[in-house]
Amino acid sequence: MEENQLNKDLMLLNEALKILANSYAPYSGIHVAAALLTDRGNVYLGVNVENSSYGLTICAERSAVAAMVAAGERKPIAIAIVTDYNRPIPPCGACRQVLAEFNHEIRVIMHSIRSGETKIINLKDLFPIPFKID
Ligand code: THU
Repeated sequence: MEENQLNKDLMLLNEALKILANSYAPYSGIHVAAALLTDRGNVYLGVNVENSSYGLTICAERSAVAAMVAAGERKPIAIAIVTDYNRPIPPCGACRQVLAEFNHEIRVIMHSIRSGETKIINLKDLFPIPFKID
């Protein structure tokens, strides 16, 4: 991998790692943090937020997308997802659809602090046919 790309990926993973402890996951015990890099070079963060009513849980990725949109940005180019689960976590189906709304070709960088494993995939390979309204 190109050195510059590797540095960008590590920077983004580190931003997510810094807020992993803020994840609110008392039910699953699976902590997740996401850092979204935009075309303007800004980073937006999110963590999973669970609820006693389990179905109301918000994933880290969608929290980060909401932060990006609230700040007035629309174009994420990469997302780092860090977890303490025993392997890297790919975005769930709902998060794939939400990410595809803003960039179907976003770079997805996943890392588990437990296993030390990192995976990188483009969203279009993970989720080839999103629902779209023209
Ligand atoms: N989770 C995320 O934050 N992102 C995903 O893409 C998959 C799942 C969270 C939701 C829940 O708090 C925990 O992981 C277990 O499902």
